[in-house]
Amino acid sequence: MAAPAREIASPPPFTMKPLSPVGGVEIRGIDLAAPFGDEVFDAIMDAFLEHHILVFRDQKLSGEAQLAFTRRFGEIEEHVGRLPNGEKYPLLHVIHNLDEDGNPVRISGGNYFWHTDKSYHAVPSLLTMLHAVETPSEGGDTQFANMHMAWDSLDRETQEEVSDLCAIHSWEANRRNTNQSPATDVQKRERPPVRHPVVRSHPVTGRKALYLGIHTSHIDGRPKEEGHAFLNRLLRRATKADFIYTHKWQKGDLVLWDNRCLLHRAVANFDMESERRVLHRTVVKGTVPY
Ligand SMILES: [Fe+2]
Repeated sequence: MAAPAREIASPPPFTMKPLSPVGGVEIRGIDLAAPFGDEVFDAIMDAFLEHHILVFRDQKLSGEAQLAFTRRFGEIEEHVGRLPNGEKYPLLHVIHNLDEDGNPVRISGGNYFWHTDKSYHAVPSLLTMLHAVETPSEGGDTQFANMHMAWDSLDRETQEEVSDLCAIHSWEANRRNTNQSPATDVQKRERPPVRHPVVRSHPVTGRKALYLGIHTSHIDGRPKEEGHAFLNRLLRRATKADFIYTHKWQKGDLVLWDNRCLLHRAVANFDMESERRVLHRTVVKGTVPY
């Protein structure tokens, strides 16, 4: 008897080109500012789970359109930081290297170190989305490191050693690790240290990934300095060149990535004092890592 015919999924209504063995796929042929149905969104989600980084080229989204697209992935996460005037950041906030008069200036900060967004929260970010509104003529890259690959690369003995470990993440540790002014008392109260597993399982695919970065302070239950040094060694192993994809921004790119299995960092490889780099950022709230 013939086997029952399998349902063949229709191809996604856009083209995809993988960008690296580490992850990332370039998507063309869709206007994210125009309405589209759930079947198209399902294809986008499939690509997201498979490639971890989606790069939509040639997009032109208003703030409202970016917020609407972001909401399809889940609840939008508020930014914990405050603007210089003390007000909360809007849900869509702007990342730039501009002073009050709009002139390009040199900037620095924790973004230039490997991290996964908001791992100093008990419920960290699921995905982050950046829309490139203005890009420098050269550089201003963002790098991603694949933490599934980093986990898979560990020998069995190391995997067993790290499997049951939990790390303490905090904003205070971030400031210390990135040589910035210490966290204020208000920040420490608003962002108390949290404990996360060093190895987490992706809540959708089940794949294991290392969960590390510049927000970590030490290992729960171990002497602080020893645990800090251990995490630093593990981070160096996890961010070797074989696990990295470097994204070179084009104006109009809309890039989103999975914070549950990637680390990322900005690269200070553009002329900040004469060129403008402006990105619109939105974030989707995740779930408690396990
Ligand atoms: Fe980030």
